[in-house]
Amino acid sequence: MDVLDLARMQFAVTGSLHFLFVVLTLGLAPLVAIMQTLWTFRGDPVHERMTRFWGQIYVINYALGIVTGLVMEFQFGLSWSGLSHYAGDVFGAPLAIETLGAFFLESTFLGLWIFGWHRLPRGLHLACIWIVTLTAYASAFWIMVANSFLQNPAGTVDRGDHLELVDFGALLANPMLTMALPHVVGAALLTGGSVVMGASAYQLFRRTPEQEFFTKSLRLGVVVASVGVVLAVAFGYAQFGPVGEFQPGKFDDKPLAGLGLGFMIMIGSLLQLVVLFFLLPVIRWLPRWRWAHPVVMLMTPLPFLAAILGWLAREAGRQPWLINGRLTVADAMSPGLTSGMVTTSLIAFTAVLGLLAVVDYVLIARVVRRGPAAVALGAGPGPDRERAAALSL
Ligand code: HEM
Repeated sequence: MDVLDLARMQFAVTGSLHFLFVVLTLGLAPLVAIMQTLWTFRGDPVHERMTRFWGQIYVINYALGIVTGLVMEFQFGLSWSGLSHYAGDVFGAPLAIETLGAFFLESTFLGLWIFGWHRLPRGLHLACIWIVTLTAYASAFWIMVANSFLQNPAGTVDRGDHLELVDFGALLANPMLTMALPHVVGAALLTGGSVVMGASAYQLFRRTPEQEFFTKSLRLGVVVASVGVVLAVAFGYAQFGPVGEFQPGKFDDKPLAGLGLGFMIMIGSLLQLVVLFFLLPVIRWLPRWRWAHPVVMLMTPLPFLAAILGWLAREAGRQPWLINGRLTVADAMSPGLTSGMVTTSLIAFTAVLGLLAVVDYVLIARVVRRGPAAVALGAGPGPDRERAAALSL
């Protein structure tokens, strides 16, 4: 493998591992916000416990996901300085807005939410989780603006050695963004819904004493996953319009992209079939149908896989361009990189991110296995907190 292939592989590995965290954060945030809204307006304690349990999973995933995002930033500076030199003025703007606005706000309000249990007034505490959710989606928006610019550098002109942004509105109204963003939102909701469904099915299959808790969780998971799969499939097909216009032949002559696309569509169609035509119509009885729970559990990893395949299709199909029609991947690579250097950072990044993904899975699985009684997040004074402490979470 030459140095360019190694650098590309490094980006693919770190991007994919990072997105595993992102897609779950985006999917879980609205679920937790909906649960807390139900608790605030209906006052049913089961919704409070649901908010704390799924909120704890959200927080674990968010905390570990941040570290994987930092690796992405390092990587731009390390391997792709040609991109910064040629298009930094354009590409840097949405990334900076994402970091400053959405990301800082999101972390701040998440902190308020985590430590605000039993301290903030209920309405204000609820507002915090909704702001976290909205800012998470604002982050996704700006990242997708940056990515869509790579697919179609709208609103920019070439000034010889660099690109200049002449129309910010065109950058935001990029047709490669308008269909892709709802597709990614749908993918995230499907992922979040599937994780809640899978974990609830696992607990119900084990005949948990928390029947009401996991029955309600399973049903909410099915509803959110249904919304997600409809958006993902509808806007998935809608993406062929802009792709055909700006990147004709993207999937015809690029086997890797075609393969990624094909398998993603297969998974999407299967999930659509199962979620919309099997799980949703029987939502009332599903919690009691023990034979169906293993099927729901087995579905859990599929949206993650489809999301990785989606990125593979979108990015591999753009080769040899990094910025479509303007800057090749070879020209974007940092000068002076050697195979040894890239191999070293590839091994280091893969090890760190891989470890984080495993730790994330193990911690989330532990929370799921121990159930709502052992959750520390939002545990009030008294028996709740003592029980959580005794179970060491
Ligand atoms: C029938 C179902 C689906 C269709 C027709 C479809 C279609 C597409 C197309 C055409 C692209 C590439 C766009 C480009 O190259 O610019 C794409 C990308 C992507 N897909 Fe799908 N997809 C489907 C299901 C799914 C599912 C189930 C997920 C995940 C849960 C998913 C996640 C993604 C992601 C993350 C991307 C990359 C970002 C983007 O371009 O939007 N897709 N999809």
